[in-house]
Amino acid sequence: MCGIVGYIGRKEKKEILLDGLQELEYRGYDSAGIAVIEGEKLNNFKAVGKLENLRNKTNTFESEGFGVSIGHTRWATHGKPTELNAHPHLGAYSYVVHNGIIENYQELKKELQNEGVTFLSQTDTETIVHLFEKYHKELGDPFKAFEKTIERLEGAYATLLITEAAPDTVFFAKNGSPMLLGFDGNEVYFASSDTPIIGKANEVYYLEDGEYGYAKEEEVKLFDATGEKSFTKQALTADKALAQKDGYRFFMEKEIYEQSRVMSDTMIGRILEDSIYFEELPEDFFEGIYAIKICACGTSYHSALAASYLFERIGKMRCDVEIASEFRYKEPFLTDKTLFITISQSGETADTLEALKMAKAAGLKTLTICNVDNSSIVRESDAAILTRAGIEKGVASTKAFATQSMVLWMLALYVGQIRHSVSEETLKREIDAMLHTPKALVVEDKLHERIHRLSKRYLHGHGFFFIGRDIFYPLALEGALKLKEISYLHAEGYPAGEMKHGPIALADSELFTIALMPRSLLYDKIKSNVEELSARDATILAISPEPFELADDFIQTRYDSHPILEYFEMMVVTQLLALEISVRLGNDVDMPRNLAKSVTVE
Ligand code: AGP
Repeated sequence: MCGIVGYIGRKEKKEILLDGLQELEYRGYDSAGIAVIEGEKLNNFKAVGKLENLRNKTNTFESEGFGVSIGHTRWATHGKPTELNAHPHLGAYSYVVHNGIIENYQELKKELQNEGVTFLSQTDTETIVHLFEKYHKELGDPFKAFEKTIERLEGAYATLLITEAAPDTVFFAKNGSPMLLGFDGNEVYFASSDTPIIGKANEVYYLEDGEYGYAKEEEVKLFDATGEKSFTKQALTADKALAQKDGYRFFMEKEIYEQSRVMSDTMIGRILEDSIYFEELPEDFFEGIYAIKICACGTSYHSALAASYLFERIGKMRCDVEIASEFRYKEPFLTDKTLFITISQSGETADTLEALKMAKAAGLKTLTICNVDNSSIVRESDAAILTRAGIEKGVASTKAFATQSMVLWMLALYVGQIRHSVSEETLKREIDAMLHTPKALVVEDKLHERIHRLSKRYLHGHGFFFIGRDIFYPLALEGALKLKEISYLHAEGYPAGEMKHGPIALADSELFTIALMPRSLLYDKIKSNVEELSARDATILAISPEPFELADDFIQTRYDSHPILEYFEMMVVTQLLALEISVRLGNDVDMPRNLAKSVTVE
């Protein structure tokens, strides 16, 4: 995820920016840059890769005396991780850094290009600085120009802008992405989270959405849609570890809570009013394709499995899914009319990468769905769609899975759209549901509290069966995997209808069944499967919008309008259940034993 740091004052600015960016390293990035204005002097440095590269580039540069400065670490979403795409972005005499996504950037870019502006990068961010300079020329006042610029931006952003037109000022704005102001006497700091300013500033103000303004050495002015407003600073925490986790106990917990927001990022620019659009796919990408084969491992395999239902149901395209390590040695029969999709959070998983190379060697067209741009799997594929989940620190994948599922759902609908296999009505219904996804993923305090309380009953027993039907079967597999990974308890995911073909022999009161019982899909079928288990005295935890009298425990979910909304809600419940059980067992939630975040060996 991108990171922002800024500083106004007399200290060595380069060091403050680089140290601050270093504190944001844990969020992940693929390039970095800084810009400093001191008196008349404007300096800018950028480098791809680690911060060390930026340090090396700036080692002869010193910035003493009063000045303003901004810095950024970039996690590529629009455009490759190159120096040109790294922030700060330059206009003729101003620099900007930005987190988030400017949804209407293509429209703004076209408008500016028609007026003769040349763009150097492929980013959405660059539109901000050119818009600012356009309005500065028109209005003659830097703050009014900034205000007018902000008015034109749609989407989520946090941004800092410096300009030779006001060399003592930093302009700031926030809408949907985090940003704060830090204070130490006359010095002002800016950052996208508190870690970079801990130990430097002693007071802080967390900007609210829609707030913007400007800061000078002795003056900070804050505005929102209603005009100028006052603000109250608060004392800054001194606990860096807690700040990195944004106050959550574990990265995994933070990432579960982030799912609602990152899902919006995943959709931005891809869901138009009445259609799906992938900038990454040439128009003829699916021409001559009659089937899809997906290869992946672990959690990514589960998102693939759920997608196979959607490709067939919505996209009317045959789809089969294989575990990459199995695919590699089965001497697969591959035909060139098949699109080969790989899914990987890290983009470095050895088995998935090898499977991809095999498919390419057999002449198949390839597409990858990945969270890390420029990773080996992305580079190897003909095309790639980024999931935009931001870096995932918890070894047990959560938000990466959620965003993979989202991209695959959009892709299935896209296939249906270009093959004309979905009616306008279905397209509209699916798009409406997609737009509701962020809401379905909001974690309510009362839900988390209930799962926390229930979790104490599930610390023993001889095993867990997560059961579901249709897309809730892969979700059951994923729920069981999450629990296994961080609780070290035995858990299996099973298609609910299969229990009676063998596993039901295990049923007794010490066998815990986690039943995924959506209202909108095959409710009566799964209900009778659960009744069969209940009759054998299995302990049942039902997750459903519908109260179920035979359940020993019950977690009520909210949505019943669309199966995939129910899927996402139940996904959150299973993630939190695994987390709370793991915490009670005293395990290391973020770094479970024997596991690695990226499996680069066979
Ligand atoms: C998920 O919680 C796991 N840690 C693991 O199963 C993971 O999904 C798998 O190793 C595949 O990784 P990838 O998505 O980076 O390819």
